[in-house]
Amino acid sequence: MSRLLIQQYEIGPLNNFLYLLGDPETREMAVVDPAWDVDFLCREAKRLGYKITKVFLTHAHPDHVNGLEKLLTLHKVPVYISKFEYPPLRPRLQGLVDVTSKDKLSVGKITFDILHTPGHTPGCQCFLGPQDQLISGDTLFIDGCGRCDLPGGDPAVMYHSLYEVLMKLPDETVIYPGHNYGATPTDTMGRQKQTNPYLQCRSLKEFLVERMGF
Ligand SMILES: [Fe+2]
Repeated sequence: MSRLLIQQYEIGPLNNFLYLLGDPETREMAVVDPAWDVDFLCREAKRLGYKITKVFLTHAHPDHVNGLEKLLTLHKVPVYISKFEYPPLRPRLQGLVDVTSKDKLSVGKITFDILHTPGHTPGCQCFLGPQDQLISGDTLFIDGCGRCDLPGGDPAVMYHSLYEVLMKLPDETVIYPGHNYGATPTDTMGRQKQTNPYLQCRSLKEFLVERMGF
């Protein structure tokens, strides 16, 4: 199996990180969260010598999907979204495929596990690549985590996603977050357990104080 290509781009006024995930062997590519500058993402895929065949959505907030409609006019590809995404957020477009953590996604011959990590929105999901690469969306940032005060958000659910799902991953896991809010664009889970204040709470109560201020 070839090694996953991960291209990380900071695009747009909210420091979004968008990703292109490619299989160097088959030259197929998935776009994670098509937003802000779809022309650039498509040019990049072409420049690298890849064909866009899929879209993966970490969640459906507008800053992660505002380029989806345009992308679909350029590339008729399936769009994988969590079955649990907050209905008012779901893009009203054809081609959406609902997935859960029981499913797997693939790009070429490379397979990803889906981790359902609600809390920021009900349909937040992370994608775990074969060499411990975690596309973490707005669930986990470098030295931060997603807000839980927006419609559909729930801090107690986020606590579970962080502590019972993501923190169970190996320390070598490399985190590729949905925004560039940290001192570095990526980091390992092991280091984040040491420096990320949202990963150092000893109870739900402590997490609620850290995240919500009460
Ligand atoms: Fe978000």
